[in-house]
Amino acid sequence: KDRLIIAVDGPSGSGKSSVCRAAATQLGADYLDTGAMYRAATWYCLDQQVDLDNEDAVAFAVEELPLKISTDPQHQVITIGQTDVTEAIREPRISEAVSEVATNRKARQLLINAQRRIVDESGFIVAEGRDITTVVAPDAQVRVLLTASAEARLRRRGLQLESESGAAQSAEALQRQVLERDKKDSAASNFTEAADGVAVLDSSDLSFQETVDSLLSRIAAVQ
Ligand code: C5P
Repeated sequence: KDRLIIAVDGPSGSGKSSVCRAAATQLGADYLDTGAMYRAATWYCLDQQVDLDNEDAVAFAVEELPLKISTDPQHQVITIGQTDVTEAIREPRISEAVSEVATNRKARQLLINAQRRIVDESGFIVAEGRDITTVVAPDAQVRVLLTASAEARLRRRGLQLESESGAAQSAEALQRQVLERDKKDSAASNFTEAADGVAVLDSSDLSFQETVDSLLSRIAAVQ
């Protein structure tokens, strides 16, 4: 089988996880949610009571992180040691702390290396995050920046959290989890502008299916 790497970046609430999972499923490709790896690393640091301000301690924890992440787009399971953290890493306490781990230079390099290995070993994968088109897989055949207006992103993340937790989120909590997180994350990578050769896909006025179809047609164009 020919190698085909699809790299997708975007801010939180852009819909990249669901869009990429659907595209990977349709293609029969693997799927990698790199944000889940940063979330898992954060879960582990909190579990081990690592002081997130202590750069070396965080890097050390990430180095020994016993993380397993599945690449099946229809069966996402993330374990740390024997613990299934698939759902726990989506909790607001993780969303609010994750940028601290993601901006830790050593921890970030360790996770980038792990992500490159997963992409490389697969060879046919949709990988999404903040720096996939630029750092993790800049040679990918398809490189897309999935964007959406702040309003659309707040609305989508609100609906997502509501369906996960069964409770509506306050506007403040949403702002914290979407806009403030983007601001903190932008210290580690630039995902608000498309790098050279990266196509912008703005989903603000597109339905979910239209966004998936638009991504798939870009992929079909290089196949
Ligand atoms: O995509 P998601 O919102 O789950 O990502 C969680 C966090 O992981 C982001 O807020 C960011 O701090 C970090 N991240 C990153 N680089 C990536 C993917 C995620 O820094 N490639």
